[in-house]
Amino acid sequence: MARMTSPDDSGYLDLVRDQVPLYDALQDAAVAAIPFQPSTVLELGIGTGETASRLLRRFPAAEITGLDSDPDMLFKAREVVHEVSLARIEDPLPDGPWDLVLSVLTVHRLTDEQKQSLFRRVREQSKALVIGDFVSLGGDRGKTQVPGQAYPDTAEELAGWCDGEIVWSEDDLVVIVADYRA
Ligand SMILES: C[S@@+](CC[C@H](N)C(=O)[O-])C[C@H]1O[C@@H](n2cnc3c(N)ncnc32)[C@H](O)[C@@H]1O
Repeated sequence: MARMTSPDDSGYLDLVRDQVPLYDALQDAAVAAIPFQPSTVLELGIGTGETASRLLRRFPAAEITGLDSDPDMLFKAREVVHEVSLARIEDPLPDGPWDLVLSVLTVHRLTDEQKQSLFRRVREQSKALVIGDFVSLGGDRGKTQVPGQAYPDTAEELAGWCDGEIVWSEDDLVVIVADYRA
């Protein structure tokens, strides 16, 4: 797959593309899944701003707030987004309302209870949620969980907890969309 330009084309991106061969396909699928033109977006675990860059190519007028617990990541992301917030997704989110909450390769870091709490908080102040992430393929759950770092669930569990729909999947990666406008 062709490499995309980005605010940081070294270090993190080389590493993540090495570890996640379908990284670019996942990013593209997450942005393609956004169900309407969002004005305000909160991205959870924004990293270097790779998803945000793609989102802005599709929706140039969107105002994105990027949240991450790593100040070095936010330093790079601030070249791309409207505003950044140094925070953990386990904690209260920046005040909405948001048209869209988006998160790629980050939610799997939460325990099941924390994920369900996050999804409840997102639903209270967002019209839509898009998640792109690793999932457990079922039988591999014991092997894919890394205490303190990674708690992947099945795609069906994740979709059920956020009341969303699985719109893309390849290997152990999925994109899930929840549209709360109705
Ligand atoms: C694998 S990177 C994904 C970054 C970006 N979304 C992407 O797709 O390239 C995970 C990101 O989540 C951030 N992160 C990890 N745990 C977090 C937490 N509990 N709260 C907020 N951010 C977190 C990390 O600092 C990192 O930037």
